[in-house]
Amino acid sequence: MPRDATLLWGLRSPCAFACPHCYFGTIEEHQQAPPTELGVLSHLSRTDLPFQVLKAFARTLVGSPIERVVIAGGEPLDWPPTLEVIELSKEAGCQVVIATNGIPLTRPQVTQRLIALGVDGVSISLDSADAQTNDRLRPSRSGRFGYDDVLSGIRALLNARGDQNRPRVGIYTVVMRERPQEITDMARLADQFGVDYYVPQPISLTPDHKLFTELTHRREDVPAVAEQLHRLYGEPTSLALPDPSYARRFVAAISTQESGNVPDCFGGARLFFIQPDGSVWDCPSDRRIAATPSEQRRSIRGADARTLFADRPACTNCSLFSRDCVNMWPLVLDMPQLLNTRTPR
Ligand SMILES: C[S@@+](CC[C@H](N)C(=O)[O-])C[C@H]1O[C@@H](n2cnc3c(N)ncnc32)[C@H](O)[C@@H]1O
Repeated sequence: MPRDATLLWGLRSPCAFACPHCYFGTIEEHQQAPPTELGVLSHLSRTDLPFQVLKAFARTLVGSPIERVVIAGGEPLDWPPTLEVIELSKEAGCQVVIATNGIPLTRPQVTQRLIALGVDGVSISLDSADAQTNDRLRPSRSGRFGYDDVLSGIRALLNARGDQNRPRVGIYTVVMRERPQEITDMARLADQFGVDYYVPQPISLTPDHKLFTELTHRREDVPAVAEQLHRLYGEPTSLALPDPSYARRFVAAISTQESGNVPDCFGGARLFFIQPDGSVWDCPSDRRIAATPSEQRRSIRGADARTLFADRPACTNCSLFSRDCVNMWPLVLDMPQLLNTRTPR
């Protein structure tokens, strides 16, 4: 059985941040009307699986087709049992990448443990190189944390890692229509900081999202984004970036609102998405989730990764393009490049 699949594992729902554009929605909205639709995420975390169930599943990763586990949420590093899931995933021989808001990295016991466990990559979210703008786009729930703390977390991890190669440290930036310049501004900040990799990714909102009109790229925004991506890939930097084909995919994704085919789609073949309630989907796309026939619905509850992912096609034929599709490439095909030893390009 080839070991070539990536799990994007949304382990826990709560998060100390309240980003209004987050895939998980906002607590305020959900307190008034808790989501009931299939696959809809919520920071309310009413259906998150208990630790014992997660642990039992993580134990079955050994000998399974899962090559890489990308642990996200919600915020995975605010929940201490996440460290045990990481440990089991590493013991199973998987590459482990953590997606974090960066605040837990300011706690030395967390950074030390990530290093000791041999975590391969830590991707930290920052949506603007400007502190005030970032804290407007990514407000913390308490108002007590923000940009400066995220940078302190990144610095703490880089310092604690010292001369060791691992974990590789990256910045992820959600690019919104009003601020194409963040693509290169953030690259410069990341490079100055000694970060290893950088991924700007297009915002992905459903057309009924209240911020869709304000934040989602329109056709007239495409030239400025294309110009920024061109500069990003043209400027000398020691940052690892996704393959240059990613820039073409980014531009193509924001150039259309339409549905369409996703050539060589790896969702359900080399990528699976696990929600905090244990549901397993081909990918996080709400369109794909809605289109999953009920007899194909799966859960990690009581499941064994060796059988759960045994029967997969080499590639899936998907006609349900969404802007989120482009965000999946860095998790799967581009990840080896992002985690590589730092070399000047
Ligand atoms: C949902 S967060 C979870 C991990 C962690 N709490 C964090 O803040 O990075 C994972 C990534 O998704 C991004 N993200 C959230 N909502 C998004 C959206 N609507 N479009 C594109 N990316 C989004 C975040 O900025 C972050 O980089």
